[in-house]
Parts: sequence; C-alpha cells; structure tokens
Amino acid sequence: MSELLYLLFHFGNIVIFERHHKPTMQDIYIETERLIIRPLNMGDDKGMFAMDSDPLVHKFVGNKPVEKIEQSRDTIAFVMQQYEDFGIGRWAVAEKATNDFMGWVGHKYMKGPVNGHSDYDDFGYRLARRFWGKGYATESGKAALDYGISNLGMKDIYAMTDINNKASRHVLEKLGFRYTGNFNYDAEPNWRTPGELTTWYKYGD
Ligand SMILES: CC(C)(COP(=O)(O)OP(=O)(O)OC[C@H]1O[C@@H](n2cnc3c(N)ncnc32)[C@H](O)[C@@H]1OP(=O)(O)O)[C@@H](O)C(=O)NCCC(=O)NCCS
Repeated sequence: MSELLYLLFHFGNIVIFERHHKPTMQDIYIETERLIIRPLNMGDDKGMFAMDSDPLVHKFVGNKPVEKIEQSRDTIAFVMQQYEDFGIGRWAVAEKATNDFMGWVGHKYMKGPVNGHSDYDDFGYRLARRFWGKGYATESGKAALDYGISNLGMKDIYAMTDINNKASRHVLEKLGFRYTGNFNYDAEPNWRTPGELTTWYKYGD
C-alpha cells in the first residue's frame, strides 16, 4: 500500500492524518543551496538559547526572551515530543558551510482552537539575528513547505504573525501564503504582543 491513513489519539480526540507513510525522524534531511534542515535535538540547546535570549528575536513573539538555557532545553523537549506524537514539529536549520545552528522552520501540529481552527498544521520560522536579511527564512521556508506537501501529504496549512512583523509577513507572502485577515490571539498571552492584532494566512487557495 503506497499510502497509509493513521490515527492519532490526542486529549481524547482522534486526529486523522493522511500521509504517504508515517514519517520517522531520520526521514527529515533536506539540503538547499545554503542550508540543511534536520530534526532538532538536545545538542542544539546552546544555539537555541543564543537565539531565544535575544530581545529583538522576541520582539513580535510575546517579548519574553528566555533567561536560562533550561528553558531552551524544555522547548527542544517539547518539539521532540511533537515528533513522537504527531510525526511533525519544527525542524532545525543549520548553515551548510559551517554546520552552525541557525534557528528553526516548518510545521507544527496545533490543537487549537486558534482563530476558529483546530487540529491543523501551523507553519513558522525563527532565526538567530546574525542570520537575518540574507534570504534564509525564505530558502528554508520554501524547502520545508515543499517537503510537507510532497512527502507528508499536508494540505491545509496556516500561519499567523504579529500585524507589525513586516519581515515575517513578507516571507509568508513570498512563500505563497495568502493573507485572510486579523484576529485577537487572546488565548495565548505569552505569544502575542499585548494590544496588537495577529494576522492569519492560508497557504494556497
Ligand atoms: C522573520 C525572520 C524569520 C525573517 O528572516 P530572514 O532570513 O531575514 O528573511 P528573508 O531574508 O528570507 O526575507 C525577509 C524579507 O522581508 C523584508 N523585510 C525585512 N525587514 C522588513 C521590514 N521591516 N519591512 C518590510 N520588509 C522587511 C526583507 O527585505 C526580505 O524581503 P526581500 O527578499 O523581498 O528583500 C527573522 O527576522 C526572525 O527570525 N525574526 C524573529 C522571529 C520571528 O519574528 N519569527 C516569525 C514569527 S511569525
């Protein structure tokens, strides 16, 4: 059988993903011209901490930079658990020339509800500041998006970003996401910027 339907039981709900096969983490290895995309692992803790302790990185994602490396390890553990539970989760981005950790990109299972959506695929990215402005979010985003659609059978993909996060909104539009409106992300006060709207995007039609 070339395609498998499999069921995930999550908090009492049954989530059905249609995939070519249930992905394992060793499946995820993508090379682009300048980047490598691979699973996050605990060895990325220092890179994650360097990125997430930078206030500018957190300016549009809740404005609460991390203070201890243990917080970064908790984030990595959370993502690794998502790999186990859902077969997806944000992937690490590394610079091909140096193998340096740059940040993360990709698909995250969202239980929701967020803006009226539940059990959906959220697309996102985050890079350490020294890697900004070189087209890396677009390059890694395109590769992760293509992989999700072609290899993981993803169909309905959504993204959201702070209304003032112009760089992120521009990246989403370059990747082919369509802006569909704004909403108040009140359910997640640690993520949103207080008093600001969050934009909502859908990939494709
Ligand atoms: C958002 C982020 C991933 C972008 O990474 P990046 O590698 O610099 O992005 P790219 O270089 O691929 O593309 C950025 C685009 O936005 C444009 N841009 C950057 N800042 C901008 C601004 N203030 N206003 C308008 N456009 C801007 C760039 O010119 C570029 O467009 P171009 O290729 O047409 O010139 C990076 O800034 C980041 O990690 N920020 C912190 C975390 C974050 O906000 N993540 C997104 C949460 S939804």
